[in-house]
Formats: sequence, C-alpha cells, structure tokens
Amino acid sequence: MSVQAPARRLTAPDIAKQKGAEPIVSLTAYHAHTARIVDPYVDFLLVGDSLGMVMHGYETTVPVPLDLMIMHGQAVVRGSKQALVVVDMPFGSYEESPSVAFRNAARVLKETGCGAVKLEGGTRMAETIRYLTERGIPIMAHIGLTPQSVNVMGGFKTQGRERDQWAAIEADAAAIDEAGAFAVVLEGMAELLAARITRNIQIPTIGIGASVECDGQILVLEDMLGLNPAVPKFVKIFGEIGSAIEKAVKDYAQEVRVRQFPGAEHTYAMKKDAKSGQGSVGKRVTKKPKMSGS
Ligand code: KIV
Repeated sequence: MSVQAPARRLTAPDIAKQKGAEPIVSLTAYHAHTARIVDPYVDFLLVGDSLGMVMHGYETTVPVPLDLMIMHGQAVVRGSKQALVVVDMPFGSYEESPSVAFRNAARVLKETGCGAVKLEGGTRMAETIRYLTERGIPIMAHIGLTPQSVNVMGGFKTQGRERDQWAAIEADAAAIDEAGAFAVVLEGMAELLAARITRNIQIPTIGIGASVECDGQILVLEDMLGLNPAVPKFVKIFGEIGSAIEKAVKDYAQEVRVRQFPGAEHTYAMKKDAKSGQGSVGKRVTKKPKMSGS
C-alpha cells in the first residue's frame, strides 16, 4: 500500500526560479475559505495590507496594525495547502531600522507559518532587505505606486508615465535585486518602464497595473470578483460575485419573511419520533410574499 506524501508548499526560491520559465500567478487572500478556493490555482497567496481597506473599511492601508496582519495570515495559512503564503508588513512595522524590521518580520513568520513577507520601498529599504534575508526571512519588495506612502505621494498615483521619473524607480529595482529580495511587486506603473525593469533585474517582477510585460500578475481577489464598487482601470472583472451575493441575500430574506426557510430538510426532529412522524409540530402556514409597492 502506498501512502501519498502531503503536497509540498511552494517556497520563495521556487517563485524566484519561475522567472523566464513560466508566468507567476497570484491573488490576495485574507481569510480561510477564500484561501482554500484560490490555493490550487496560484503560485502564491498574498495577505495584503489592502485588507485594511477591503475587509475593515479604512480609506488607506496606513492604519493597519501588525496584529491584524498576523491574524489574517494565520487564517490564510490554515486555509491553504500548496501556495507560498506571503504576508504584508504594515506601515510602521519595518521602516525604523533593520533590527525593528527583523523583530516584527520574525513574529509574522513564527506566528503565521507563512513563507515570506512583503515590504514597500526600493533603495531606502535595501539595507533592511539585506539584513532580513541574511537572517532567514525571504523578502518580496514592492515599488512604483506604494500605497503606504499615499500621504507623501498625495494620492494613489501611477508611476513612470514621465520619463524623468524612470531613473529613480529603476534604481529602486536594482537596489532590491542586489539586496537579495526574491521578487518585487511593480504597482501602478507605465508599461514601458515595467518592461525595462523586468528585463534588467534577476528577480521576477509581479505586476498589478504594470502590464503584461511583468513576470507574473497579482490582483486583489475582491476586485476581480466584482465586489469593489470603484473598479481601477487595471482590474478585469472575472466573476460578478457582488451581484450573486445580493441575489442570494434577497432570496434568503424573502424566504424567511414567508416562512419558507428553513424547510423540513433543514430542521431537526426528535430522535425517537423521527420514524413514526409523531412529535412534529404540524404543517406550517406559509404567508404570501408581500409585493413591494402594493
Ligand atoms: O496589499 C496588497 O493587496 C498589495 C497588492 C496590491 C500587491 O500589496
């Protein structure tokens, strides 16, 4: 009899090796059920700090606390089996110094069981990226439109649409590559610049609003499922889950109001009366649905 070995999770080096071989597929996940559904189809799951906006209604990612990232990270690791899980380091948890970054990133790794963390910033974070990778923490970097810097950038602004912005962003990419990150997210970036960066660095680029020229793609799951009422230009809606949820909720409300749900098949009878049929409360009278406007 053969015993099947449990599927091995992808690792940061596995993702790095995909550059030039096959496109890297990823999505965000914030909780166990969606992680379970998405897991078989992606190379990595990102527990993005976008969860602050998507799940918790913040206007930006800036207020997201480390403990919240850890809690969602644990849920996604529990819900998934094969994809690498990457957890975002939230604003304020890594910028101060390499040692503060190490302490917090080590907490994320130990308490969630994820395989890597992501942090925003290029040249200014290179020393920290080197410090963490040398101490056993795989780092995914994030440059271009960096949402945690929204207050400095004066909004969520696409980067690299003017050629005079290119040198600084290319320097960021080179610094991250050299410092030992295993991949880099390019967010909200002109296609020509994303293509140049992808060609010129060793590590894979993961695009979000940065064109098909990147080595892989990521989207926020709720965006591509049609749950976000403000759809950014770079998002394609792959499924209209928002309207499906609305229809299901409407149907449920209607059935509860006319006492159609729960039915007999959703109801527990007394054990000894189950066969005889005795002990039931008799047939329920269902009301006619009230028509709105009548
Ligand atoms: O927080 C997030 O979801 C992200 C992706 C947009 C890359 O960083």
